[in-house]
Amino acid sequence: MTRIGVLTGGGDCPGLNAVIRGIVRKGTKVHGYEFVGFRSGWAGVLKNETTPLDAEAVRGILHVGGTILGSSRTNPLKVDGGIDQIRETMRAQQIDALIPIGGDDTLGVAKRLTDEKIPVVGVPKTIDNDLAGTDYTFGFQTAVQIATDAIDRLHSTAESHDRVMVCEVMGRHAGWIAAHSGLAGGADVILVPERPFDIEEVCDHVRSRHAAGQKFSIVVVAEGAVPEGGDIQSAFDTTDAFGHVRLGGIAMMLEKEISHRTGFDARMTNLGHVQRGGSPLAYDRVLGTRFGVAAVDAVAAGHFGMMTSLQGTSIELVSLEEALREPKLLDPDFYETAEVFFG
Ligand code: F6P
Repeated sequence: MTRIGVLTGGGDCPGLNAVIRGIVRKGTKVHGYEFVGFRSGWAGVLKNETTPLDAEAVRGILHVGGTILGSSRTNPLKVDGGIDQIRETMRAQQIDALIPIGGDDTLGVAKRLTDEKIPVVGVPKTIDNDLAGTDYTFGFQTAVQIATDAIDRLHSTAESHDRVMVCEVMGRHAGWIAAHSGLAGGADVILVPERPFDIEEVCDHVRSRHAAGQKFSIVVVAEGAVPEGGDIQSAFDTTDAFGHVRLGGIAMMLEKEISHRTGFDARMTNLGHVQRGGSPLAYDRVLGTRFGVAAVDAVAAGHFGMMTSLQGTSIELVSLEEALREPKLLDPDFYETAEVFFG
């Protein structure tokens, strides 16, 4: 009997449970596979901490946020003998292949395991939508909707108080969430990591609106946006096992600078993990399910070292190597469209 280990790594993401359900339902029903769920990402594989993963375990989870398997940012490549420990767990659990569901960090480990001849099929996950090799990742649309709803709410309070509202959204390397929610929410300025910003230009957009009679403005900023010639602004100094600094704080800096330079009242809001929580939109449930089904089919076909992806409207496999080469940055045309509405 073929046995497959499944894990979810990195930040959680709406739609993860849809992927897990897709893998297990197709895998048990059509391929006759058995599954082992690993707790808390690679940490569970290292420690051989498992949870039952059968048709019963995945009942009623399609609409539920988070991940029934738990997640962590544990990096087995930073653990002495980490790869041997993974092999040992696979041997102990009689596992034939692994399906890790995660972003560039989790899939970076998957790629390394592929190099070590361990059979792995990856599923791309990130609300940031910055993984190359796929047009979209599940969770992104839900995050954009949550951010757009928040921007709509900030609009009415901005207008009541004649304020500049600065809304910080997630997006470490790429401004997908900022650009999409900012465009959908009618933002007057959108700041993304791909385009270092000039604070005076930001203030000019605000001033020009006020000069034209509008007494409020909405600024949407990705957490990874940087001022021209400057560095990431974070209120934190901790880094995770993959070397990423914890982000958060650029909106605070913008609130101070905008009110200081323009004299207008400004307030910041950081949406933070609200963007990752709760029930996935239908789009993400569908995409997650399609990825899950395709991942287990890829195992059945022996297509290891690959990752599921969305190409246009089709689900296809791409190599982990190709997907991990560099982050997928925001399309410049998209930003230029959003820019039409600045100021
Ligand atoms: O998964 C990516 C991400 O959503 C980034 O945008 C953000 O910086 C990070 O996760 C936050 O992660 P954590 O939950 O570890 O604070």
